[in-house]
Amino acid sequence: MNIAGFNILSFKELVSTNDTALKYAQNGIGQRLVIVAQRQTAGRGRRGRKWQSLDGNLFFSVLLEFPLQNLGHLVMASALSLLKTIKIFTPTADVQLKWPNDVLLNGAKVSGILIEKGAGEYMIVGIGVNIVQAPDQIGMLYPVISLRKAGIVTTPEQFLQKYLEQFAKNILLSPVILRQEWLQNAKGIGQIIKIKQNNTEQTGIFVGIDENADLLLQTKDKIQKIMAGDVFYLGEENGRI
Ligand code: BTN
Repeated sequence: MNIAGFNILSFKELVSTNDTALKYAQNGIGQRLVIVAQRQTAGRGRRGRKWQSLDGNLFFSVLLEFPLQNLGHLVMASALSLLKTIKIFTPTADVQLKWPNDVLLNGAKVSGILIEKGAGEYMIVGIGVNIVQAPDQIGMLYPVISLRKAGIVTTPEQFLQKYLEQFAKNILLSPVILRQEWLQNAKGIGQIIKIKQNNTEQTGIFVGIDENADLLLQTKDKIQKIMAGDVFYLGEENGRI
């Protein structure tokens, strides 16, 4: 099957769609390939975390040739495409982007993106979307939600199709427009946030992102570039708002 120029390979069960995509990249066959699985036995999240792969949700990885130095473009385009896809189903949905690449629905995390570098020039964009159920809130770092819980009814197949159409368009946006659209939809610009990185945490004002999609945090009299970490909005921690 081909959607928006992407060849789709569907599996019943995989360990992780990103792992399978990485193997295709090693073999040099993968330009514009999408690996999708109904189930993952060991889905991976950002920062070494697990991604719970609950029945009826969507798990896929897009494999494409993309220069590593433009990683920021891929980060912004993949998250913005998710946000726009949700709005296709419900134009009035309360959706926002959370740095680096989460999508919030009614203020809670509805999807996750894990971007990894494959062999050669290949990049892998692994995406999980809570279509019908979200993991149990207990023990989660952030509030979580599913599309269904918010009244948005779709299937993994339908959502994937709309997503790929969006992604094919948004990846072609100019860097200036892409950043502008990302910022327009971001949660917390101008607000105080906390960034946690391994064992350190910093508090400051979220002033924006640069062209590499690094977060700009104003602390005292300087602006720092943050390349990785978890963002917490004021008053929100360990799944509570
Ligand atoms: C996050 O931590 O928010 C990122 C989660 C990414 C999960 C997706 S599910 C499909 C793909 N395969 C994986 O093992 N991870 C990504």
